[in-house]
Amino acid sequence: MQADLSVRIASLTMQNPVGVASGTFGFGQEYAQLLDLDALGALYTKAITFEKREGNPAPRLFETPSGLLNSIGLVNPGVEAFVEEKLPFLKTLHCSVVANIAGSTEDGYCRVIQAIEESAGSFGNGVDAYEINVSCPNVSHGGMSFGTDPSQVERLTRKIRTLTKRPIFVKLSPNVTDIATIAIAAEQGGADALTCINTVVGMAIDIESLKPRFARETAGLSGPAIRPVGVACVWKASRAVKIPVIGCGGISSAEDAIEYLLAGASAIQVGTAIFVDPEVPFKIKTGIARWMERKGVGSISEIARILK
Ligand code: FUM
Repeated sequence: MQADLSVRIASLTMQNPVGVASGTFGFGQEYAQLLDLDALGALYTKAITFEKREGNPAPRLFETPSGLLNSIGLVNPGVEAFVEEKLPFLKTLHCSVVANIAGSTEDGYCRVIQAIEESAGSFGNGVDAYEINVSCPNVSHGGMSFGTDPSQVERLTRKIRTLTKRPIFVKLSPNVTDIATIAIAAEQGGADALTCINTVVGMAIDIESLKPRFARETAGLSGPAIRPVGVACVWKASRAVKIPVIGCGGISSAEDAIEYLLAGASAIQVGTAIFVDPEVPFKIKTGIARWMERKGVGSISEIARILK
């Protein structure tokens, strides 16, 4: 039996469940010479804010056992440059494109969506869906400070819902007491799907200089170290809501991806592992298909139902 790898998330059909996570793939063009981007399930862009952002002071990365701490600070060219310089390339792609949106205020998020809506036009056309970033731990306003407050998540999602017919995915933070509460708030605000999870707050200290390694002291931990946290968040969130959940966090093999799908994810994103091996999304796609054939599973959506 040939496995059907396509997945449906609200009105969007992705040709396979493997996406590349926001912040690990730029705006796609950076990898275009290296990889067949059309074969991806989805490309999630780096976060886009209304104004251009220079980001946090260096250093911005620090490796830990089985993980990577980052404090990038939402570096991006701003929505105007996104529309003028990045969108034309994204329009040429045959994979799904999801624009990750960030802001310091509710109005900031909304202005980014409005600018893209005006330029991208009808459904698809360079942006197939939005991923609302209420979970970046590396900024002082917006980001995770929004995503840890259920009423804020619901209000922001509701506002964005009035601005677009494109599917809205809300990217959740694991740095909360109960992710189910935040998941329900996003669903009630009108989200079409959730992404679980963004990075886990972490810290590293240089014992010679006696200083934190990052200017903002804490940072976001990604990579294999956080996979069990992500799997548990997907499991909890997918049982709390009816909308699909997209799994993310420490996926570097087909086995890791299948674990997320069994926990309740409808699709997955690969992030930090791309820095080690840019081909890994394609290897994961092939591995999932082989596993499905071996297990006699016909479609991705069946996987979540077979967890015992
Ligand atoms: O620092 C950063 O730009 C991280 C963004 C995120 O985690 O969403």
